[in-house]
Order: sequence, then structure tokens, then C-alpha cells
Amino acid sequence: MSGWQHRHILDLSTFSTDDYAAVLQLADRFRQLPVTGARRLPALQGRLVASLFFEPSTRTRSSFELAAKRLSADVMSFSPSSSSLSKGESVLDTARTYVAMGADVLVLRHRSTGVPQQLAEDLDRLGERAVVLNGGDGLHSHPSQALLDLLTLARHFNPKQPTPDVLQGKRIVIVGDIIHSRVARSNLWALTACGADVVLCGPRSLLPTEFADFVAAPPPGQARDPVPERGSVTVHHQLEQALPGADAVMTLRLQKERMRQQLLTSLERYHRDYGLSHQRLQLCGKPVPVLHPGPVNRGVEMTGDLLDDPHVSQVEEQVRNGVPTRMALLYLMAAAESVAEPSLVSISS
Ligand code: NCD
Repeated sequence: MSGWQHRHILDLSTFSTDDYAAVLQLADRFRQLPVTGARRLPALQGRLVASLFFEPSTRTRSSFELAAKRLSADVMSFSPSSSSLSKGESVLDTARTYVAMGADVLVLRHRSTGVPQQLAEDLDRLGERAVVLNGGDGLHSHPSQALLDLLTLARHFNPKQPTPDVLQGKRIVIVGDIIHSRVARSNLWALTACGADVVLCGPRSLLPTEFADFVAAPPPGQARDPVPERGSVTVHHQLEQALPGADAVMTLRLQKERMRQQLLTSLERYHRDYGLSHQRLQLCGKPVPVLHPGPVNRGVEMTGDLLDDPHVSQVEEQVRNGVPTRMALLYLMAAAESVAEPSLVSISS
């Protein structure tokens, strides 16, 4: 854990395989902690985590707040409608107000790409100690979601040892509104880093063929990729081509709020062509888990029957894995920042 290099966590293009291994190992340990009784660890005692969600969220926000509380941090949360944002204060100035109050970690979600990065640059320039954890920015990045997806998949393939290499050579199909999805982008970095072969599938209007090159070049702003060899990315526009041989399928919400023009003829047509059902999944040739980051449009991305089938649907498992994954991120950031590692006294390895 002492090898953790990331002051801020902004996107996964900078993560090495060792970074994924560190997160999975710690998250899996946190996952085994009892959720009743004495559930708090003292690791972040005296630290202040501010959750600044400038965009709506159910899962991510409550999961981060619970994760911070489970590590004994103090938590402050912010809601745009009742804040000075409505009086014209800028996002970055609002965030810095929390830093002035002593926030150690700022978990930030914003509808515009790059806001967490800008805040991190501001804090570094000002010599502030506080760190930024991206809770989802625009279409760009949603690191904690991809990491909890990774934990869910790794545990599915090897519940006893959910390490990155259990994803090696697995065919993971991501279906749906890829172009508007920060979850898909972060998953592309994470899954290919672990050696998975990712197959993207969706209508042409939501999945340009250029996505096949998404991880081919060095990540933006970096001279070289921290991952020496990645799994492949292929693009298909028909489920009949994408699903055969799949080891897992992830489907994504249609992000209607981000569509600037009419990109789909109708939801019925979308469901007919790309909606998942028990019957459709038979194309995979074997039983496979189905993931969805939520919120789900029941009957659009998948049938209600499939969503409610605990043998297939991993949706609740993803939510369950969100808390320990976010605990791991908060822990690693706090550990990187302090001389002594935060206390893990009550976790037995
Ligand atoms: C995702 C998000 O906000 O990017 N949801 C989430 O964090 N669980 C995906 C979505 O909104 O569709």
C-alpha cells in the first residue's frame, strides 16, 4: 500500500495494474467487515470528507458518505439548491469554502467534464493539503463506479481471490449509450488494464466506431501508458454479434438528459434491438452475470424479470460493493497523504 502514488483520484487512465490490485485487495477486506454491530474503523478519525454533488445522485453520494463514516471520518454534504451557488458563487469557490473549513477530501460530482481536475490543480497551486476524488464528471470519468464494477466482476470470477488477473482474457460486453457514459469510459481503462477483452455494443448514434481506439494511444497528457499491455476493444452494432462467447454483460442507462438531439427513434425500438432479457442472454452460450450502474430504466435496458433475477442481475451486488470500494479509495488517499498509515487495527488479514 505504500506504493500508492495518486494524490487526487481523477480518472483511471493513470492507474497501473498494481493500483487496481491495491484497491481490489483492500476493498475485498473491507467488504468482509461485519455490517452490523461495531462497524466503524478508526482509520480516518479526525479527518473531514466533504461530499459536493453538483449533479443528482442516489447511489454514489450515499455510498461515499457511508464509506467515510465507516472509517470514522466527519462528513459534510452539500446540496446545490440550498447553497450560495444559487447566489452566483462559482463551483470552485464553493469547493474552496469547504477546504477553508478543514476538509481533507473533497468528493466532487459535476455535469461538466474537467471540474474535479480544475479543482485539484487549484488546490495544488495554492499548496493546500486537501485532495479531490472524482464522483463523476460530465461524460469523462467515474473512477469509483468502474472500480466497484471491477470488484463485482473479479469476485464473480474468483470469490476467494478477486485480483485483477482473474479478468485476463475474459470477454466483457458493454451495451448501450456508450457515447454519453463516463461509466463506460472508466470501465474501458479498468477492464483493459486487467487484460479483459471489451466488446462495446450499441446503435451507431450512441456508439461511434472510433471507440475501438479508446485505449490505443497513451492516455491524455501522459508520455506512456502505465499499463504495458491492455486487453482489446471491439465495436459491434448488433447484440447477435456481441454476445456469443461473453463472460459478463454490462448494460448502461440511456442518458436522455445528455442527448442534445433525437438519437433514438423510440425506446421500444431500442429495447427490441438492445434490451437484455433471459432469452437474449442465451446468445452468450452460458449463464453470465449482468451489471448495470443504475439507475435502471426498467423495461428499456433490460426486462424487469432480468433485473429482479438474483442469479443473473448483479445490480444490488454492485451497490453492496460500492461502500467497501469507496472505503478503499478514501483509505489509500489518506494513507498517501500522512506519514503514518491510517489505522487498520480491527481488520484481520
Ligand atoms: C452513473 C452516473 O451517474 O454516471 N450512475 C451512478 O453513478 N451509479 C450512470 C448513470 O447515471 O446512468
